[in-house]
Amino acid sequence: MSDHARIELDDQAYEGRMIEGSEGERAVDISSLRNETGAVTYDPGYANTGSVQSSITYIDGDNGILRHRGYAIEDLAKHSDFVETSYLLIYGELPTQAQVTNFRESITKHTLLREDMRPFFDAFPPEAHPMAILSAGTLALSTFYQNHYDPSNPDDVEISTYRLMAKLPTVAAFAYKRSIGQPYIYPRNDLKFAANFLHMMFAVPSEPYEIDPDLARALTELLILHADHEQNCSTSAVRLIGSSQVNLFAAVSGGINALWGPLHGGANQQVVEMLAGIQEAEGDTKEFIRRAKDKDDPFRLMGFGHRVYKNYDPRARIIKDTADRVISKLAGNDPLFEIAQELEETVLSDDYFIERKLYPNVDFYSGLIYRAMNLPLNMYPVLFALGRLPGWIAQWREMSQDPDRRIGRPRQIYTGPTARNYVPIENR
Ligand code: ACO
Repeated sequence: MSDHARIELDDQAYEGRMIEGSEGERAVDISSLRNETGAVTYDPGYANTGSVQSSITYIDGDNGILRHRGYAIEDLAKHSDFVETSYLLIYGELPTQAQVTNFRESITKHTLLREDMRPFFDAFPPEAHPMAILSAGTLALSTFYQNHYDPSNPDDVEISTYRLMAKLPTVAAFAYKRSIGQPYIYPRNDLKFAANFLHMMFAVPSEPYEIDPDLARALTELLILHADHEQNCSTSAVRLIGSSQVNLFAAVSGGINALWGPLHGGANQQVVEMLAGIQEAEGDTKEFIRRAKDKDDPFRLMGFGHRVYKNYDPRARIIKDTADRVISKLAGNDPLFEIAQELEETVLSDDYFIERKLYPNVDFYSGLIYRAMNLPLNMYPVLFALGRLPGWIAQWREMSQDPDRRIGRPRQIYTGPTARNYVPIENR
């Protein structure tokens, strides 16, 4: 195979070096194209642009493969926990017992928020969206640690990593408590990551709260399954913001905003809204499927299909069993789950969806689990953000160590008016 690609522009030839990834992915290095030819490339949505060389996550969408640092997501979901998977993403190797104990303790030590941050939550209106509070809270955290967040200082990067991993769940749970008017519940450092989060979310000071181990395991699995997904919208945002050498808190805060959008972290909410719509239509799944297939109707079945996976989303396969378990334990006879089951069965045996390789994606099941946990819809993307945090941190750290790093600054193809004379206001 050739190690160069040739682009012909007018009579000029440009030779781009070929880069090959460890799984055989090929890319044309066009980094000197503009200098040499004056032309740039045009790639809306960056769908054909490799913006980085990364050793963190590998996805093969055609074959339904997702691996972190070479380890299959199926193995991590089955054998690992969220803190260990986070270590793997951030440091590149599975930790030894001593390493994971040290990492766990370093995170645990930082779970409390500074007490002067409490009034921050009271300042939001009760109906404030928890994603807005999470993003603002992440940025607000930076103001307490201004002497220790220098992105070029390895010790600062390390302590910022612990602080974010430790405090984001506390910020998220406080945001939730604010929205339902309950007292904030402080973290418990004797609990593991997911169990502590459940405690801060669902305990109240007036009575004991027992953590359901099945729920804690389900949440752990969900967090692991969301931990990284290479250069998606929010991760690319974290890298782009971070490329200006701003601190990690500010970059992660930006990532949370990117995740908030309905096309990214909001899809699981839309799944539940769609199921509620089917319920309102007296459970008529057939009508919704008919509409999804109708070329003249923009409606799509939420929770089905994926831009990258043209096969079963490997995360969906894993979470389906968990969803079945959690739902049968917690959800009683919620009609939405019956509708979801019927929809899934019908779609999986329908030629339209089979031919187009449209399978249930991770959002289809995660939305159902969050509903069974009795979480309000606006907390769904918050859970996604907590899961994605180690991925953002790992990608930011890789970016800041990358010898090829430059400030992110795409070009454009200008299509506005050409030069014209300023017209005084009385003449317009
Ligand atoms: N319902 C009905 N038809 C669909 C659906 C769907 N959910 N998804 C795709 N199709 C059809 C398209 O109409 C198209 O049909 P055609 O070839 O006859 O024109 C074909 O399948 C291919 O669709 P594309 O839009 O080209 O697929 P793309 O990869 O661009 O879209 C996407 C992927 C956006 C996820 C799409 O499947 C979709 O809108 N799904 C519903 C929303 C959703 O669940 N999003 C969550 C994604 S997972 C995540 O973000 C973590």
